[in-house]
Amino acid sequence: MHAADGLATGVTLAEGPVLYVTDLSVGFGDKAVLQDAAVDFGRHTVNALIGPTGCGKSTFLRSLNRLNDKVSGYWRTGKIELDGVDIADDRLDPLVLRRRVGMVFQRPNPFPMSIRDNVVAGVRAHRMAPRRELGDIAEQRLRQVGLWPAVADRLGDSPFRLSGGQQQLLCLARALAVGPDVLLLDEPTSSLDPVTTEMVEALLAKLAASLTMVVVTHNLAQARRIADTTTFLYNGHLVESGPTADVFESPREPETASYVMGRMG
Ligand SMILES: Nc1ncnc2c1ncn2[C@@H]1O[C@H](COP(=O)(O)OP(=O)(O)O)[C@@H](O)[C@H]1O
Ligand SMILES: [Mg+2]
Repeated sequence: MHAADGLATGVTLAEGPVLYVTDLSVGFGDKAVLQDAAVDFGRHTVNALIGPTGCGKSTFLRSLNRLNDKVSGYWRTGKIELDGVDIADDRLDPLVLRRRVGMVFQRPNPFPMSIRDNVVAGVRAHRMAPRRELGDIAEQRLRQVGLWPAVADRLGDSPFRLSGGQQQLLCLARALAVGPDVLLLDEPTSSLDPVTTEMVEALLAKLAASLTMVVVTHNLAQARRIADTTTFLYNGHLVESGPTADVFESPREPETASYVMGRMG
């Protein structure tokens, strides 16, 4: 049980997909970025999203927790369900949705507050724990991401003196602290050194015991290492989605074959 369970809205099914996407089209203004996409992401799985730059990976990912809602010109048709609840449902507060479906970006974005306060920022905002527990929660989450030894003696310091990799681990700790059901990660390791990348990959594998993850990656080897399923977006379409081994070793579509063989950007 994580700290957020008491606040979860809707019914959490014991098994089956967490996220169902059907007939999804998204775009900006008169341009469709992605048309008629259908995919689902199973409970406690790691799911890679691959495809050339500009194919709509970030737009798709950000649609899953309504992060694009306020972006000018953005539109969406079709349905995204989280545990059977339409995420566009008026009764689902977007802030609650984003607590349940967290996000980690390519560039680490610590808040301008202490390391400790960063970790518990969401816990505080959602009033998920009494003040006296915040220190323990910060420690627990920093340990979980492997950052504790490096920051234990400077929890009150600014995060901006940490290395890029450490900042990204801090952002992961912050995302995990609110106990999300789903974590969206947009190229989370593309700005990191190989050692931190390995740490993050190992962490994601461990998190799959309790979380569903959707990870955008440019690194095909990484998708193969960490993902249960892989989804390939290309040219405005979700071309193919399936078990990672199938998508890489026996893709159904020629475009997928071309991309995973490295013949297309
Ligand atoms: N805020 C926006 N306004 C208009 N067009 C956008 C916006 N964000 C992204 N796009 C366009 O949507 C398409 C997909 O972008 P994106 O989702 O960022 O692709 P990817 O993450 O796969 O590189 C691109 O053509 C991009 O120019
Ligand atoms: Mg992107």
